[in-house]
Amino acid sequence: MPWRSNQKHSPFGLTAWQALIERAHLKKGQKVLIHAGSGGVGTFAIQLAKHIGATVATTTSAGNVDLVRNLGADIVIDYKNEDFAHVLRDYDVVLHSLDKVTLEKSLRVLKPGGQLISISGPPDAAFARSIGASWLVRTIMGFLSYRITAKAKRRQAKYSFLFMRANGDQLTEISSLVDDGIIRPVVDRVFPFASTKEAMAYVEAGRAKGKVVVSLR
Ligand SMILES: NC(=O)c1ccc[n+]([C@@H]2O[C@H](COP(=O)([O-])OP(=O)(O)OC[C@H]3O[C@@H](n4cnc5c(N)ncnc54)[C@H](OP(=O)(O)O)[C@@H]3O)[C@@H](O)[C@H]2O)c1
Repeated sequence: MPWRSNQKHSPFGLTAWQALIERAHLKKGQKVLIHAGSGGVGTFAIQLAKHIGATVATTTSAGNVDLVRNLGADIVIDYKNEDFAHVLRDYDVVLHSLDKVTLEKSLRVLKPGGQLISISGPPDAAFARSIGASWLVRTIMGFLSYRITAKAKRRQAKYSFLFMRANGDQLTEISSLVDDGIIRPVVDRVFPFASTKEAMAYVEAGRAKGKVVVSLR
């Protein structure tokens, strides 16, 4: 698995930063579950959470266990053979990037006051407000996330949707972590520009380990 220190200006890095630091205010000693730890966001988020000093659990399949352990994950759940909701308890934060079933199940591992942050939906009314959406769109997004928001409330937890925004200051901080060797971007495959379509198909297949890069040179 190649590590490329120059692949540092990462939307995955920003997504992980905005979820764990800006939204969750993750702190040393807290526990975070990062779903799909072998993916683009997951590989970054595991390292960032460990840098903060959190205990990190992650889900992946057997073939990627060594990868996520090398990134610092403390507890690795092979999602094909184990149910994370039976193993993990009293987590402060879950970073979710998978399907609706996993989203709802993730509430079970949170402690009261815990946060479920999803980057794969459903969008919520707060997100709609943050992008200045109309009353109608706010209502639709509120409706889409009504079930998970209500379920979270019943468990004294909080659900929110996060959509990454560009942020130069955060990118600068991420770049420093990469330059200092604290976070190592994981690059799965590099495609030439002419093969962008194949690169997109590879990403969409959902099996990538870390980032997939399209090279312009
Ligand atoms: N809201 C935002 O701003 C934002 C930003 C970035 C990404 N996203 C979204 O977040 C999601 C994740 O993106 P990504 O690029 O990080 O993912 P990705 O790189 O496509 O994730 C691929 C990885 O996920 C693992 N995986 C697949 N199914 C899994 C499961 N059921 N449990 C645990 N791991 C599983 C795969 O491991 P195995 O091969 O071992 O199964 C693979 O290594 C996507 O839906 C993407 O669109 C949103």
